Amino acid sequence: MPECLSCACLMTPLEPNTVLKYPPLVRELHDVLRARQFPALPEQPGRIELLARLLDTSISEAMYVVAELHATLSDPGDICEFGVAQGATSALLANEIRATNKQLWLYDSFAGLPKPSPQDQLKDDIFGLGSMDRYEGQMRCDAAEVETRLAQIGFPAARYHVRAGLVDQTLREGEGPATVCFADVDFDFYAPIAHTLAYLDRHLSPNGRIVVDDYDFFSTGAKTAVDEFLQQHGGRYEFVRPPAFAGKFCVLRRIFAPEKSDLNVRAPAENHWQQPTLTGFLERLGRYRIGFATVIDVGASNGMWTREVIQRFPEKHYFLVEARREHEPALAAFAAENPRVRYAICAAADRPGEVHFHAGDLFGGLAAHAPFSEHDIVVPARTLDELAATHQLKPPFLLKLDTHGFEEQILAGAPTLLAQASLVVIEAYNHRMGFGNLLFNELCTFMAQRGFRSLDLFDPLYRPHDASFWQVDFAFARSDWHGFSHPSYL
Ligand SMILES: C[S@@+](CC[C@H](N)C(=O)[O-])C[C@H]1O[C@@H](n2cnc3c(N)ncnc32)[C@H](O)[C@@H]1O
Repeated sequence: MPECLSCACLMTPLEPNTVLKYPPLVRELHDVLRARQFPALPEQPGRIELLARLLDTSISEAMYVVAELHATLSDPGDICEFGVAQGATSALLANEIRATNKQLWLYDSFAGLPKPSPQDQLKDDIFGLGSMDRYEGQMRCDAAEVETRLAQIGFPAARYHVRAGLVDQTLREGEGPATVCFADVDFDFYAPIAHTLAYLDRHLSPNGRIVVDDYDFFSTGAKTAVDEFLQQHGGRYEFVRPPAFAGKFCVLRRIFAPEKSDLNVRAPAENHWQQPTLTGFLERLGRYRIGFATVIDVGASNGMWTREVIQRFPEKHYFLVEARREHEPALAAFAAENPRVRYAICAAADRPGEVHFHAGDLFGGLAAHAPFSEHDIVVPARTLDELAATHQLKPPFLLKLDTHGFEEQILAGAPTLLAQASLVVIEAYNHRMGFGNLLFNELCTFMAQRGFRSLDLFDPLYRPHDASFWQVDFAFARSDWHGFSHPSYL
């Protein structure tokens, strides 16, 4: 029995229960980093639990990864992890992209580390094996492990792609993601990292980011692959290393500098306003000279869209409407952070009362008056006109709908608000989704009948099923906007 330290008795001293203390410690570290290092990073339900389940990655490193990921979420492209192992980081990434339509691509041999190449000299003997050759086959995990983790957090199987095998065989032109906005590269060794960086350079979106783990740690190969890559593509990437406490990794941030062959498909850096992204739209919005005082974000989920907009227009007011109570903690935290943000938990509809809601996906819900055959819940419903009156929302309005097919009903409950709206942004669809949604061309006609013309479009999405156009965010302005009377391109 250990002795009491303060006297010579044999009493057992009280020790902290380190197991119980771990989750609150993760929460504490997360909150400190968010407050001090990443103030723009939104809260995300489930993040703390997934941070606490990481195996080889420190909380600080994971927070950097998450912050880099979020910086790219309004850009086109998918998310990749190269070197998945048991999939703890994959689950963290998946949780962060729930609200988006991005796909998650997961690459691993699932047979452990490959044979090291001559560039892989043992720098830090992490498992104490004595030589680099002995690392071949280490870190082997089963692909089923990552699938289990993704199933545990309810990430839909249709949104991720596991590519098992050596990456030089599985990551080939025409078979991998066409556009990537964020990649986490954690292969440890020179050859797979060099192969992956070369692919990413051809497919990274203009503001895309790559985190390469183990830079100058374990094998010398990771650093050599990155350094060679930067020599070859000098000037196209900003090279960032985190503070020492955060770990041994580096970030490659794409700086858009087009080659001649890129000029017809991408806008140069100073032309952010030409990009078909939310960032590009917000740039253009600043130039349209259309007044709005309050942004009403309907189908706000955890407030991710408004968080982007408020950075560009911090002087506006924001009112968020979300049907799922599960998002309330994130919305309450957002409102507590910023006095210009308010929210209501209800579905927007054509009449007050209750509506049925498809609750299959926390970020993809849909309201209806008739019950759904599966995932049906009933939620309170209010009209936007009543909400605007009750909360004394200040016109003119920028109304945003991300409501998956209930737009006609929502606008039927908002004639007064619509008359005071200068802009309406609606996620529009190109396929019938089975619940009566308008097609984008029908939506344009519908809005024309209400005095609006299409002004802008951004964030187009093409579906994996057949590569066809799936959805786009359409912005409508009042038909008498001064720009519509300007007849020429210049
Ligand atoms: C450090 S672990 C990844 C850890 C994981 N990213 C995490 O955060 O939990 C490295 C992984 O890379 C995989 N790997 C290494 N070289 C590879 C290659 N050439 N092709 C495919 N997978 C490879 C290994 O099987 C191993 O699972």
